Amino acid sequence: MENPIAVIDFGSQYTQLIVRRIREFGYFSKLYQPEELPTIEAPPAVILSGGPRSTLEPGAPDIDFDYLRSLDVPVLGVCYGMQLLNLKFGGTVAPGHTREYGPAALLPVEGGVLFDGVRDHSQIWMSHSDTCKMPEGTKILGENLDGIPVGLQWAEGFYGIQFHPEVSHTDEGKKILKNFLSIAKNPTEFRIESFKDHLIERVREEVGDRKVVCGVSGGVDSSVLAALLHESGVDTRYIFVDNGLLRKDEAKEVEAQFRTVGIEIETIDASKRFLDALAGEGDPEQKRRIIGRLFVDVFFDAVGKDVELLAQGTLYPDVIESATSGSIASTIKTHHNRVDRIMELKAQGRVIEPLDELFKDEVRDLGRALGLPEPVVGRHPFPGPGLAVRCPGEVTEEKLEIIRNADKIFINLLREKGHYDRVWQAYAALIPTKTVGVKGDERCYEYALSLRAVTSEDAMTAEWVHLPYEFLGEVSNRILNEVAGVNRVLYDISTKPPASIEWE
Ligand code: XMP
Repeated sequence: MENPIAVIDFGSQYTQLIVRRIREFGYFSKLYQPEELPTIEAPPAVILSGGPRSTLEPGAPDIDFDYLRSLDVPVLGVCYGMQLLNLKFGGTVAPGHTREYGPAALLPVEGGVLFDGVRDHSQIWMSHSDTCKMPEGTKILGENLDGIPVGLQWAEGFYGIQFHPEVSHTDEGKKILKNFLSIAKNPTEFRIESFKDHLIERVREEVGDRKVVCGVSGGVDSSVLAALLHESGVDTRYIFVDNGLLRKDEAKEVEAQFRTVGIEIETIDASKRFLDALAGEGDPEQKRRIIGRLFVDVFFDAVGKDVELLAQGTLYPDVIESATSGSIASTIKTHHNRVDRIMELKAQGRVIEPLDELFKDEVRDLGRALGLPEPVVGRHPFPGPGLAVRCPGEVTEEKLEIIRNADKIFINLLREKGHYDRVWQAYAALIPTKTVGVKGDERCYEYALSLRAVTSEDAMTAEWVHLPYEFLGEVSNRILNEVAGVNRVLYDISTKPPASIEWE
């Protein structure tokens, strides 16, 4: 697919949401680093994102403005992007007296395409500390209630806004983005059906007559990847590593699930190796490292060192997170498809990542287009290190068994009562502390469990789900009655940030 709407990334945590929104509107869009601008040939429009830096700082990210102007397409600067454009047009930027962060109201000042049909006093989400002094001739398109300009136009097709249109807290954000896109020059249409054909072509081209090995986990990404490889007709072995950290009956279910779409998988039972390697280890990062390394060892022991081509279900947000200089996301937790052995293969051109242009919801749509059943595409995400990250401290078989049994009850009830599909992810985590309780007439001293259910868009932020009390009560009763070793159930009401979705 060619000519995406180009979003230039200055490092804001929301930048990938801009790309996502544009694709939701049915246009193809991609993210670029500022230095890549001169390589972009005919974008229908360009958006300069927000960013954590100030344009006043020495070494602040910059763009090749002459090249940008030579493209002769509409440009929208968001926050940092707006301040940068203001400087380029000869204005100045000065440190503000207060840091404007959070909600404000928008008052469109003048008609014009950007705020066309946008109501007065709608909420906008601001995040900046510097203010612009505009060059002469700048049109003010909108202000906030303090009279600070939050929408500018410097020249034909050059717009700036001092708030984030991509976040849901900006009431009319979608309309404003759509208004801007309405003047884009011949934007490329983005539909998953045609994208599927593009991906099948891409896979056939990249693979040629090489043999592919694909690790599957039963999760959405690797299932969709497997279905894509299968549909492309390339010669593939599908390997499933049972690391002993899976949910109840998962290995069997995954095999059956693939069989229904005509894919035979090879299961390697390595649970003992994993549990032995984890014995005595309580540090979250060490646990992740052990699991990540061992996964790679087990996998390559099974497939041999001379893998011609390895297929991975890396998604667009993973690629962006590794590429974005301003992002801390990639360093919060160790990501296991970026370990050394795989990076070596990658450097040798022996890794394909056909889903690396897609967001999670798009992967789900692709799965549907490839004919995967709804329970597979609608499945909640499950982390690579499995239940180990839901078992803080040392992992033992006894604790895993408790988590598995409780998780099964929780998930089954979510499905039964119709809550599963509105939840991004739900699980039970074991709190590694025993507390006193009474069972029958006896004192008991057993573990506490925490239930977590969140909604999210791409896991960058998350809200806890307001599940009905009656429902939570039923889950709790069932767990307390049926799962040995637990005498207390809690419901986690933490947002992300600051809490992450998983416990570790
Ligand atoms: P956190 O806990 O960072 O999780 O808020 C965000 C999302 O990522 C999943 N997750 C992982 N997925 N490998 C994965 O494939 C991992 O190592 C990993 N760690 C967390 C998590 O389940 C949530 O959906």
